[in-house]
Amino acid sequence: MSLTYLITGASSGIGECFAQELAKLGHDLVLVARRLDRLEKLAQDLQNQFKIKCYCFSCDLSKRDETLALVEKIKSQNINIDGLINNAGFSVAREFHNTELSAQMGFVETCVTAPTILCHAFLPQMQKRKFGRIINVSSMVAFSNGAAGHSLYPAAKSYILKMSRSLAAENCDLGINITALCPGATQSEFQTHNGMNEKIGKDNVLKPMATFDVVKSALDGNSKAKEVVICGIANKFAVAMMKFVPEFILNPIIRHEAKKMVIK
Ligand SMILES: NC(=O)c1ccc[n+]([C@@H]2O[C@H](COP(=O)([O-])OP(=O)(O)OC[C@H]3O[C@@H](n4cnc5c(N)ncnc54)[C@H](OP(=O)(O)O)[C@@H]3O)[C@@H](O)[C@H]2O)c1
Repeated sequence: MSLTYLITGASSGIGECFAQELAKLGHDLVLVARRLDRLEKLAQDLQNQFKIKCYCFSCDLSKRDETLALVEKIKSQNINIDGLINNAGFSVAREFHNTELSAQMGFVETCVTAPTILCHAFLPQMQKRKFGRIINVSSMVAFSNGAAGHSLYPAAKSYILKMSRSLAAENCDLGINITALCPGATQSEFQTHNGMNEKIGKDNVLKPMATFDVVKSALDGNSKAKEVVICGIANKFAVAMMKFVPEFILNPIIRHEAKKMVIK
């Protein structure tokens, strides 16, 4: 069955890989990001290779009016969204007080508000059709207690994890599979944009995963209606530690490791 998937953040990394894998399966795509040139190039390649249909929308999801306008454009063109991948995101590597409020609020709009708006916009169509697929990209840090630097990132990803689980509970009997994807470090442009490339190379104990492995486990888990997908054995082990090791042991370790990842 050919479906139509909306993917945010499809211009690079995990989102681009979702586009490639869903195109291979014969699904039509609605590609969203700010860099339209990249989306159009990707769309061209995928349409030529897999004979699917692609729509490209440039949208800055850190601006709520643009996110709301995106929903209107998609609805006015009568594009039915069967699958939604809320993937666009980034992190602010500085400490909270060393960052402009506008940067922090742009982060919250992109990583919290936009996925909420898109779920709210497209769930009713899925409920009516009694079929839908949603993957909300969270992170394994959703399970951490927070630490210095990337200050709002664990909170935002925790919100995505819990929103996703609540929506899964509300929609599990309606043919709608909803999954929170919790990757660890993954090879993408994420670390280039937040300035972490060098630090990760030097200090990180976990080797970044390939986007293909992350996306494969997400699509596999979502097809089986798994509510949470944690990618890779090492990340599963790290999440188990965050869940079960007492805070007085865990917090100093997390805070020590997180300190290395802050840009002053
Ligand atoms: N890589 C990791 O280590 C890792 C680990 C855990 C979770 N994640 C999560 O995985 C998701 C994808 O990240 P990635 O690793 O694939 O990083 P990436 O290669 O930097 O991709 C991020 C995508 O988000 C889009 N984006 C960022 N800000 C946007 C905005 N304001 N409006 C619209 N689109 C925006 C970017 O497109 P434009 O720049 O063209 O707008 C790009 O397509 C994120 O939610 C991230 O938090 C990543």
